[in-house]
Amino acid sequence: MARSASCRIVLVSSPKGGSGKSVLSRHLLVSAAQEGIGAIGLDFDRQQTLAKWAARRDRTRETFPDFAPVAVQPASLQDWRAALKVARAYRLAILDTPPSIEDHLPAIDALGEAADLILVPAVCTQDDIDSVAPWLRALGERGLRAAVVLNRANRRTTSYARMRGTLVKTGAVCPTELPQLEDVHVPASKGLTLLDYSRSRGIAPFEEVWAYVKREAGL
Ligand SMILES: Nc1ncnc2c1ncn2[C@@H]1O[C@H](COP(=O)(O)OP(=O)(O)OP(=O)(O)O)[C@@H](O)[C@H]1O
Ligand SMILES: [Mg+2]
Repeated sequence: MARSASCRIVLVSSPKGGSGKSVLSRHLLVSAAQEGIGAIGLDFDRQQTLAKWAARRDRTRETFPDFAPVAVQPASLQDWRAALKVARAYRLAILDTPPSIEDHLPAIDALGEAADLILVPAVCTQDDIDSVAPWLRALGERGLRAAVVLNRANRRTTSYARMRGTLVKTGAVCPTELPQLEDVHVPASKGLTLLDYSRSRGIAPFEEVWAYVKREAGL
């Protein structure tokens, strides 16, 4: 079915804290910006990790305007309808959410229904899989399009193979995983990402995840 030119919504959500939601959100936003796609990041986390990162980026761009501009606005789970209205003015909205979604289920449900794609980052540990697998199953049972993005992955370990196997049997898994990258947080202090440096080690997986997201979200 041909899709209209309306805003594509990508919800980045996971029942587990620290799984890479904000890291993934900002890399997706930079990919979109570098391709000239009008995108907005909506930061539903009260910690405002994504919004603070974007404010640092704005400051960096005052001196180095060649870094692509990224728009991020704070948003509230209590007022998710207002956030979706904001999204409509853009071609793409990336929704970064807080952990412990159990505390915000009605809002997360509504955002999930509105989303073209739900990305569920998961670190390759048994604890993450224990909470992510049932969540992925529940999203699938409701007919929502969701995919796990394995994060901090080390393909050479047996735990990685086991976790991936469990998740592949449960729902969709993005074919590219994000490896453990010691320097992923370094550019963030200036509001940047690995993608802002064309020679960064580790940009290929983010580029591949972006390509996957574009295809799956119908961009
Ligand atoms: N692939 C990676 N390699 C190394 N470190 C990573 C990677 N992904 C994320 N991290 C680090 O893990 C920490 C948590 O990442 P991030 O803030 O993106 O998680 P989150 O899911 O948004 O957390 P929260 O649930 O608290 O919002 C950060 O310090 C980040 O730099
Ligand atoms: Mg976060």
